[in-house]
Amino acid sequence: MASLRDLLRVGRKPAPAPAPAEAAPGPEAPILAPAWVRPLFAADLAPQLRRDDGAVLVWTIEDQGSTAAITDQFKANAEEYHRRYAHSAHFERLFRQGIEATGITVAEAPLILDLGSGSGVNSIVPCQRIFPGARMVATDLSAELLAMLGAYAADEGAAEEVAADEGRLEGAAADAIVCVQMDAMSGLVAPGVFDLVTGASILHHLQDPQAGLTAAARALKPGGHAIFFEPFNGWGIMRLGFQWILAEAALRGEPLDPAIDTLLRATIADIAARSDPDTDTIAFRHMDDKWLFSRAAIEDMAREAGFAQARFKPHGAHPTLYRDMGAVQLRLGTGQGDLAFPAWATAILAEVDAAFTRDAKRELMMEGTIVLTKAR
Ligand SMILES: C[S@@+](CC[C@H](N)C(=O)[O-])C[C@H]1O[C@@H](n2cnc3c(N)ncnc32)[C@H](O)[C@@H]1O
Repeated sequence: MASLRDLLRVGRKPAPAPAPAEAAPGPEAPILAPAWVRPLFAADLAPQLRRDDGAVLVWTIEDQGSTAAITDQFKANAEEYHRRYAHSAHFERLFRQGIEATGITVAEAPLILDLGSGSGVNSIVPCQRIFPGARMVATDLSAELLAMLGAYAADEGAAEEVAADEGRLEGAAADAIVCVQMDAMSGLVAPGVFDLVTGASILHHLQDPQAGLTAAARALKPGGHAIFFEPFNGWGIMRLGFQWILAEAALRGEPLDPAIDTLLRATIADIAARSDPDTDTIAFRHMDDKWLFSRAAIEDMAREAGFAQARFKPHGAHPTLYRDMGAVQLRLGTGQGDLAFPAWATAILAEVDAAFTRDAKRELMMEGTIVLTKAR
């Protein structure tokens, strides 16, 4: 089976064979995006990445003038990123819970715009299952990540690439997914054309999340919904828990495993930087994760963007929330599945857990679903 690297290699246009001297160059027919996609964009789509069999894996919009930067984890290290963060069953649950909690209804066989799709495994795959017959436009700045999904859509034989974790597209998906390399802040989509806008962990990567929300609202039909999954400032609680663990290690004279020590310090600094970022600095532009949102900030931006309603569904409020999130942070942050806190550090996180009621954990959510609705 082709790896992503192979796909990218075969995706490059082969060097044209030298034409015989007497042959007159014939006009090349333009390669057009599928007919259902063309009216959805304000500008023409051009092939960005093609395979030798001619299949366009990723489309782009020329001259979009984006100045947004993304880091290597989404480009050179796309395969590793996909492997580490693919969790489509989890995101399918979040989609279903968000829809149920808010009672929104989505049109049958909806047109969906997904912002910051990555490999699509956490948004496109769940939506395929939840919304039968959906047609979806997956967008991202990373052609490398989109290529995984594009290969899937172009050729079910490549499905294992994206399905490596749990995500698996149904065969019928193949004609219904188009990948477009596009800045989520660009607003290049035609106005009022989509039934649903989705985004799994995209807004907090944007220099200007207001621009992302404005683009989402603009793309929606009247009465349409947007669903985002984002981190919130409840991470501040985890910052305090990690600071407590570092202080306790010093008091005990028991140094932590260096990988854990580094991870805790980096997470504390990251949470501090993202809680109230200084957006004028060069450092902010190069920060990968840029924001930890508050409900009020999302509500204000959503209103400004043209949404009539903003609702939230916190993801976790269970008695072991901080213990569990601490363990997940350790695993994802270090990439070492077998790394664990010492028992006394786990006990500290249990103390933090015990300090907050379920309701308080909901109020101070770490991660949550945002459901926005555009006025009719
Ligand atoms: C945390 S990943 C999430 C990917 C995917 N939604 C998932 O859940 O696996 C964030 C994604 O946003 C993309 N991204 C960052 N800034 C972007 C921008 N301005 N426009 C579009 N995509 C962007 C990155 O390339 C990356 O794929």
